[in-house]
Amino acid sequence: MNTRSISFRLVAWYGGLLAGIFLLLCALLYLDLRRFLEDDLSRAQSRRARQIAATLLVHVKQTGETYVASQTKDWYEPEINDRFIRITRADGTLLYTSGIPNDGSFNPTDVPAFPPPQTESSRKVTLPGGKTLVVGSLNYQPPGSPAYLIEFGELLDPVETMLEHLFLQLALGLPLAVIIITFGGYLLVRRALTPVEQITRAAERITQHNLSERLPVTQTGDQLEQLSISLNRMIARLDDAFQNSRRFVADASHELRTPLTILRGELENIAEDTRLDRELRDRAASLLEETEHLGKIVNQLFTLSRLDAGEAQREWARFDLSELAKTTADQMSLLAEDKGISIDCEAGAPVWVEGDRVRLKQVVVNLLDNAIKYTRGKGAIQLRVRGVNGDAVLEVADNGIGIPPESLPHIFERFYRVDPSRVENSESAGLGLSIVKSICTAHGAEIEAQSTPGSGSSFRVKLPLAKHS
Ligand SMILES: Nc1ncnc2c1ncn2[C@@H]1O[C@H](COP(=O)(O)OP(=O)(O)O)[C@@H](O)[C@H]1O
Ligand SMILES: [Mg+2]
Repeated sequence: MNTRSISFRLVAWYGGLLAGIFLLLCALLYLDLRRFLEDDLSRAQSRRARQIAATLLVHVKQTGETYVASQTKDWYEPEINDRFIRITRADGTLLYTSGIPNDGSFNPTDVPAFPPPQTESSRKVTLPGGKTLVVGSLNYQPPGSPAYLIEFGELLDPVETMLEHLFLQLALGLPLAVIIITFGGYLLVRRALTPVEQITRAAERITQHNLSERLPVTQTGDQLEQLSISLNRMIARLDDAFQNSRRFVADASHELRTPLTILRGELENIAEDTRLDRELRDRAASLLEETEHLGKIVNQLFTLSRLDAGEAQREWARFDLSELAKTTADQMSLLAEDKGISIDCEAGAPVWVEGDRVRLKQVVVNLLDNAIKYTRGKGAIQLRVRGVNGDAVLEVADNGIGIPPESLPHIFERFYRVDPSRVENSESAGLGLSIVKSICTAHGAEIEAQSTPGSGSSFRVKLPLAKHS
């Protein structure tokens, strides 16, 4: 899990805050309820003490103490009801005290004597064994008699059991609630971020070849809509810039072609004019070579600009790639034999593809041209065409000088050359493989290169097979 992601941080904050608020609320609820129940219990004890005073002790002078004691026992049945009742005379002697409750939950003699309050009070007594007795006391003086201290008590046990139960429920329910709500929050955050993912995916698909496409704009009037609109504006500006630069290269290479042709014609005339001085004719011939090199670069740039403009799709047709590879290998074998290099073409069964035949031939030519150019001495080039899993695969492998690993990622870039001094007549400009790459892209094909310096390179083009028609 990515702990720095916006969804994780949002959910963590949300969950933390929620847990904090819940904890505080539950603690308040628990403490308040505890206080209320304890107060209520002690109020009930005082009330009963007052009851004894008002109904029994008030007539003690007439009824006698024994009557009070027996009536108290009969009415309140302290042993059955787990209650504590004690009536003490002003001199400290006992008029009545309840017995041990039937369930033996406490022993009344364990309750220490209490100095009589001014009128009324209540207290909590902790008994041996840890139980708490809530006792209400009343100092009451019946008419014509000395004062009595009436004590009435009940165990706190039931309240404590209930609070324990509540505590347990809160302790289990709270984390569960936080987990469920946090998970819900996580789903919501995911949902809220889905448009961002869509924008990202759409933006990922946009390359220099489909800059006319735009990102989806959800009409929500929020930051996400703003983001898509801003990104679309940026893509539009990029599109403009790309088109301007393409147009510039296309115009420049086109405009250069006519003067170059004239220049070449004139230089040819000079080089062949026998009336002229020999040295002048030699210099014109060498200039002619340079002009031809320049013409080649201009032509390559022109090809690239037309490919950029999507022109490869014009002559779309279905043809056999094996046959194309064979004829191209035949045509180039003369050039290779001049350098003592053999071209072995392994292309048996027809492999049907769809595309611009002339452009794809250019791919084979450029790859073979490189293989011949960058192989020294007795070389062997292998050209292979076959169908693999719905794809046509064309491979050109040589046993030439190879490409250093640090240069391998750059060889398809425009004007990139590994080291110009590696070829004797340095007529290359580093555009051959960029043209190959552009043609492949226009055909939905992939190209990859592998190389080991000193032992050779191989280029592999993977093109979708033609659909059966
Ligand atoms: N078969 C190969 N063997 C070794 N190096 C190669 C091969 N193909 C291409 N390269 C290297 O990749 C660079 C780019 O190739 P390319 O675009 O065709 O330009 P160039 O015009 O120099 O041939 C070349 O400069 C060359 O050094
Ligand atoms: Mg080349």
